[in-house]
Amino acid sequence: MTKKLIDIIAGARPNFMKIAPIIHAIDARQTEGGPLRYRLVHTGQHYDEKMSGTFFRQLGIPNPNINLEVGSGTQAQQTGAIMIGYESLLLEHTADLCLVVGDVTSTMACSITAKKLNIPLAHVEAGIRSGDVTMPEEINRMVTDAITDYFFTTSEIANENLRGMGVAKDKIYFVGNTMIDTLLSNMARLTPPPFWDEFGLKSKKYFVLTLHRPANVDSNDAFARMLKAVAIGTRGEPVVFPVHPRTAKTIREGTAVPANLLLVDPQPYLEFNYLVKNARAVITDSGGITEETTVMGVPCMTLRNSTERPETVSIGTNDLLGVDPKALKPALDRLFAGQWKRGSIPPLWDGKTAARIVHALELILVK
Ligand code: UD1
Repeated sequence: MTKKLIDIIAGARPNFMKIAPIIHAIDARQTEGGPLRYRLVHTGQHYDEKMSGTFFRQLGIPNPNINLEVGSGTQAQQTGAIMIGYESLLLEHTADLCLVVGDVTSTMACSITAKKLNIPLAHVEAGIRSGDVTMPEEINRMVTDAITDYFFTTSEIANENLRGMGVAKDKIYFVGNTMIDTLLSNMARLTPPPFWDEFGLKSKKYFVLTLHRPANVDSNDAFARMLKAVAIGTRGEPVVFPVHPRTAKTIREGTAVPANLLLVDPQPYLEFNYLVKNARAVITDSGGITEETTVMGVPCMTLRNSTERPETVSIGTNDLLGVDPKALKPALDRLFAGQWKRGSIPPLWDGKTAARIVHALELILVK
C-alpha cells in the first residue's frame, strides 16, 4: 500500500511547537506500519537561529524537506512569495493533504495554494476568533477556515464558532491543543537560561514580559508608556523581557527602558518556559503564551483588547487588561495581594492531542 503524503506547513515561531507533536505521532505510527508519511515544508517566514533553528533542535523536529526561504517582507510580499514557492513545489510533486497550524501568514498562504490545486486541507487550531480584524492573524484565521475541509479544534468555543459559520458537525474534530502536548512532554526538560544566576533571579520573585504586536510596539511613545507602567506596577522586581526582532527595532530607535526591565534575546523553548513556570506572573500580548500560563497555573496579564482564546480567561489564569497602561497597576496590586484567580485546565489539553489528530487523519485518508 502506498502511504498517503501529508504536507506539514511551518513558517513562524508559534508554529513549531504545534507541529512537533504531530510529526512525532506520525513517526510513532510509521514504526507500527501506519499509513501516513509527511513532507515538512518550512516557508522561511521566520529564519533567524533564535526564531526558528533552536526550536527545531530542542523539540526534535527533523530538518525541513523543503525551505521556501521567503524571509521578511510586508504581509502581501510574504503571502505572495509563499504562495508562489509552495505552488511550484506542489506542481512538481503533489500531496494527499495539506496540514496547516495556527494563524500566521504562512498558514493562510499555503491554505489558499493547496486548496486552489484541489488538495484537501486540514487546519489545526481552527475556529478561534478574536473579532479584531485589525490583526493580520484574524484575517488569516477567517480565510483559512473559509476553505478548510477538516477542522481540528482546541475548545468548545471554537466548535461553536465553526458551527455558527455553517461548518458540518462531522468536519469538526475537537481534539485539544498540540501546543500543550509539547509543553507537557517537555516539562521535565525545562532549563534555566544562562543569565539566571547573573541576574540573581529567584523563583516567583520576578516577572516575564513579552510584547511584539504592532499595535503595542510600533509607536515609540505608547510603547515607552507601557514599559514605564510595567516597571511601576512590578514594584522594582526583575522583569525578564525577551525581545522579538520587531520590538528590538523600536527600542533601537530610542525607547526609554526602565532599569528593572532586563532585556534579553528571544529565548529558546526550554529556557523560555522555565522562565514562565517560575515567574510570579507573565505580562504579554501573545496568544499562545496565555495557554501555556494557564496549564502551568501562572498568573497572566494580556495587554490586548480581545483574545481569540477566551477559555484562558474564563477557565485559566489569564486576564485581558486592554492596551491602556493604566490598567496594569490595579491588576498587579491584586496579584501582590494574593488575589489572582487560580484557574484550571481546559478540556482535552492533556498531552494526547497529536495522537488524536493522526488517528483522525488516518481514517480520513485511508477509507
Ligand atoms: C508572526 C506572526 C504572529 C506571531 C509572531 C511570533 C503573522 C501575521 N504574525 O509575527 O502571529 O505571534 O510571528 O513571533 O504571521 N524577523 C527577524 N528574524 C526572523 C523573523 C522576523 O528579524 O527570523 C523580523 C522581520 O524582518 C520583521 C519582524 O521580525 O521586521 C516581524 O516578522 P514577521 O514575520 O513579519 O511577523 P511577526 O511580527 O514575527
